Amino acid sequence: MPRHGVSPGQGHRRSGPEQESDRTRGSPRLRLLWMGLPLILALVLWAPAGAHPLPVQSQHVGRLVPQLRDAFGWWNLSCPVCKSLFTAIDFGLKKESSVEWVGSIATKLCKLLKIAPPAVCQSTVQLFEDDVVEVWTRSVLSPSEACGLLLGSTCGHWDVFSSWNISLPAVPKPAPQPPKPPAPGAPVSRILFLTDLHWDHDYLEGTDPDCENPLCCRQDSGLPPASRPGAGYWGEYSKCDLPLRTLESLLSGLGPAGPFDMVYWTGDIPAHNIWHQSRQDQLRALTTVTALVKKFLGPVPVYPAVGNHESTPVNGFPPPFIEGNHSSSWLYEAMAKAWESWLPPEALHTLRIGGFYALSPRPGLRLISLNMNFCSRENFWLLINSTDPAGQLQWLVGELQAAEDRGDKVHIIGHIPPGHCLKSWSWNYYRIVARYENTLAGQFFGHTHVDEFEVFYDEETLSRPLSVAFLAPSATTYIGLNPVSPPSLQVTGSTK
Ligand SMILES: *[C@@H]1O[C@H](CO)[C@@H](O)[C@H](O)[C@H]1NC(C)=O
Ligand SMILES: *[C@@H]1O[C@H](CO)[C@@H](O)[C@H](O)[C@H]1NC(C)=O
Ligand SMILES: *[C@@H]1O[C@H](CO)[C@@H](O)[C@H](O)[C@H]1NC(C)=O
Ligand SMILES: *[C@@H]1O[C@H](CO)[C@@H](O)[C@H](O)[C@H]1NC(C)=O
Ligand SMILES: [Zn+2]
Ligand SMILES: [Zn+2]
Repeated sequence: MPRHGVSPGQGHRRSGPEQESDRTRGSPRLRLLWMGLPLILALVLWAPAGAHPLPVQSQHVGRLVPQLRDAFGWWNLSCPVCKSLFTAIDFGLKKESSVEWVGSIATKLCKLLKIAPPAVCQSTVQLFEDDVVEVWTRSVLSPSEACGLLLGSTCGHWDVFSSWNISLPAVPKPAPQPPKPPAPGAPVSRILFLTDLHWDHDYLEGTDPDCENPLCCRQDSGLPPASRPGAGYWGEYSKCDLPLRTLESLLSGLGPAGPFDMVYWTGDIPAHNIWHQSRQDQLRALTTVTALVKKFLGPVPVYPAVGNHESTPVNGFPPPFIEGNHSSSWLYEAMAKAWESWLPPEALHTLRIGGFYALSPRPGLRLISLNMNFCSRENFWLLINSTDPAGQLQWLVGELQAAEDRGDKVHIIGHIPPGHCLKSWSWNYYRIVARYENTLAGQFFGHTHVDEFEVFYDEETLSRPLSVAFLAPSATTYIGLNPVSPPSLQVTGSTK
């Protein structure tokens, strides 16, 4: 009789003969599993296309787990059988031909379920299949994790997105000081805050702004029907990004808002054509837009943060323990080169390793740029290990403690706002903000494309606000947004 709902730690120690029968009965079910995999893959692939900037999160995995567990309970698998099954699956999956095969099934399913237009299905799967299969074999499909999940902790250890704690120094927290407004006439420093520029190299005036692809107003969008107007010269209120001329106009029009002491630029430089982006495309966006910003802001120092669209596949930011060609070094090296004139050597050093850095723009102020892709639910590399990726939060604690010791104030910039992060990351970040509330003078993020803020409260009563993160609106009109005038910028006044 089929058994349902095996919970962790519940009867799964079985003897030899049953393993035999499991194996023989297993073959049609094995095929089932092979079929199920691409479906999961397709769901995971779909998540990034739909997720940004709308707050749709990819929780497909969470919903699938009980169903998978049911299926395995039904199969009545023993621990050694489970482990050899997954060892075999991983071995098979790592072959190039299986990646292609998984990819072809994922593509078929994507087309069948009309997840995206056929050409988009095809190229999305091609773009993601290598990295996703690599990550899956090292995480959810590894014998220990998979069997830990399906058969309980006596068989393996499921620790995908498990919770973790950073450690705070023993130094007692200073008594909270309510913020004091600056004295009248105190010197003010003007900071330009730019985010989510999303330059579309292939933007084309007159094309269909309402095409069926995830990004329109571009060469491959076709022409609109005679009854509707085509994409505008400067941009379009639709699922469209911006031509370079609009960014140029934005930057050239900054004059009256300045002069600026510095610029916070919180990422997302390339367009949303995430189904068809090469490393070369991403680097062209990085260098072209960096050159444009330099041209119009001249000697004003610009402090960038790494957005989720900088990489390809989108959201794919392997932590530093991934080495070789899968690593992010192609991107971070190019950033270090492009931003060399803005950042000191120590900042360039950590940027090369993990895409984050700290520097002192002037005496008394420390600026910390975080790589928020290490907090992201959509960064599929974190399935392998999501525990404080790159040690970034522990490093942040060190920076904040040093700033507290010196009596400095700190600004944090980053792309994805902390409220959109994986639970454990968010929780730890909240603790850090609460511990260093006197030192932390400002937080600035982007990614949501709209003008909003996130408030942090004290951890004891959750009633005393102690910090706020400002989220700036995007430069791009994606999706159907009206950039503020002058577009996409907030001018932040703060006392020197
Ligand atoms: C599953 O295992 C249990 C105990 O090991 C056994 O009694 C039962 O018959 C098995 N069920 C199936 C469907 O093989
Ligand atoms: C983290 O700390 C909290 C309380 O400070 C505790 O409840 C939780 O169990 C800890 N988590 C881990 C994984 O140590
Ligand atoms: C590294 O990976 C990229 C992207 O997957 C690929 O285009 C390139 O050919 C690879 N390079 C090497 C040396 O394998
Ligand atoms: C995950 O990363 C953390 C921090 O780098 C490390 O302490 C831990 O051992 C890693 N876990 C696994 C299973 O590799
Ligand atoms: Zn964006
Ligand atoms: Zn983003």
